[in-house]
Amino acid sequence: MRTARLTVDPAFRVGPVRRHTFGSFVEHLGRCVYTGIHDPGHPTADADGFRRDVIDLTRELGVSTVRYPGGNFVSGYRWEDGIGPVEQRPRRLDLAWHSTEPNTVGVDEFMRWCAAAHVEPMMAVNLGTRGIQDALELLEYCNVPSGTHFSDLRRANGAADPYRVKFWCLGNEMDGPWQLGHKTAREYGRLAAETARAMRMVDPDLALVACGSSGTTMPTFGEWERIVLTESYEEVDLISAHAYYREEDGDLASFLASAVDMDRFISAVAATADAVRAAKKLDKRIHVSFDEWNAWYRLRAESPPPTGDDWPVAPVLLEDRYNVADAVVVGSLLISLLRNTDRVHAASLAQLVNVIAPIMTEPGGRVWKQTIFHPFAQASNLASGDVLRVAIDSPTHETAKWGDVTDVDAVASHDAETGETVVFVVNRSTTEDITLEVDVRSLGAVRVLAATTLHNPDHTWAATADDDSSVAPRPNATATVTDGALTAVVPPVSWSVLRIGR
Ligand code: AHR
Repeated sequence: MRTARLTVDPAFRVGPVRRHTFGSFVEHLGRCVYTGIHDPGHPTADADGFRRDVIDLTRELGVSTVRYPGGNFVSGYRWEDGIGPVEQRPRRLDLAWHSTEPNTVGVDEFMRWCAAAHVEPMMAVNLGTRGIQDALELLEYCNVPSGTHFSDLRRANGAADPYRVKFWCLGNEMDGPWQLGHKTAREYGRLAAETARAMRMVDPDLALVACGSSGTTMPTFGEWERIVLTESYEEVDLISAHAYYREEDGDLASFLASAVDMDRFISAVAATADAVRAAKKLDKRIHVSFDEWNAWYRLRAESPPPTGDDWPVAPVLLEDRYNVADAVVVGSLLISLLRNTDRVHAASLAQLVNVIAPIMTEPGGRVWKQTIFHPFAQASNLASGDVLRVAIDSPTHETAKWGDVTDVDAVASHDAETGETVVFVVNRSTTEDITLEVDVRSLGAVRVLAATTLHNPDHTWAATADDDSSVAPRPNATATVTDGALTAVVPPVSWSVLRIGR
């Protein structure tokens, strides 16, 4: 059997575990909002029509922030359509997803959902068909206590206290030709800078996210970040990154190693931001908001939007069914996000419900967990304290996309207060069991508190509403600590969580 030697040491601190790493995303897209979080006829629906069972799973998932209302949707959205008496709200064409938006759910309902789900809202403003004025009015509606037109309108609509939204995305994927109001880097950089400057006049304590590239394969990737930040560096706090991965042409090995791309993406964006910083002779650092990431099978039949005269409300869109390999990839992307905690200050799993999502619903019926639910929930609920880089000496294997990669990838968290250390590890070999030998001498006398592995001999196993528990993580009885060495056997295509402490 192959052996991978790992070293975990509190001296390898990268930075804190950030709650904002565990954000998600709710877009007015397909069945994410309507029949997803919102289903007034459902037996668990609350007074706003929000499904209580979905709220419960959102809490179990450990979601910290939720980005809203898009996505591509936001670039044509008029936020004021979604406030006031529901029966008076207009129905609009949603050009991004060729759907009809009934506006039954808007800002106020979303904020109440956030409160119920114990999540922090992360709002996006429309810099596609709209601009600075609209962003200011939405900000005034959300964050100004009272005494102005939009703040008093919010109060009249039932919210006496401001929502105090801190995170704001300045548009969405403005580099993409598919985006309504798509812009050149120079055009967008100027608009982002001026929108940010104006928004800070209303509320100086905002965290503002400029749009980075919608993927590393965009022809403008790199140059886009350089120009946008050259225009907006002084005004913004973060720059976004988006990445979706899928198994293509049966190349499981490359898919399992997708975190190689995410690591490179983050360091390329950070390096570009630092180059702008050097040129401008500034101290301030720009951080990364990885505010869309997941596995997404764009070419499957679930993905293309409707066409022609059909403009349905909440059609089935992007309802990917995730298998075990997808869950291992989601786990490995979480490892990448955590190990880059010095630069990644926010992230959002795209999306939360039904649309490329960990949580699925039947309209009026059951709610169930996809395979990707488990690694996210474990990482969010168990990582605490500091993130530790793990030194990895592992056998390697060849991949078509990323060259030679280690069989094993891992990151750890260490909580000095509780004394607990958690090692998150993937075995991305497609065939080999691996024995892990983790040097934990620096942690003193520790024992295994719990060890679990998510795996199935058939990596294509996917959950359904009838069976969403067969691939929940199971105890890994091979984990032991002896003489400062944590050992465990991890099967191929697996995600494991090893908790050790006093
Ligand atoms: O998450 C689905 C879509 O992917 C979002 O609307 C868009 O921002 C991205 O291209």
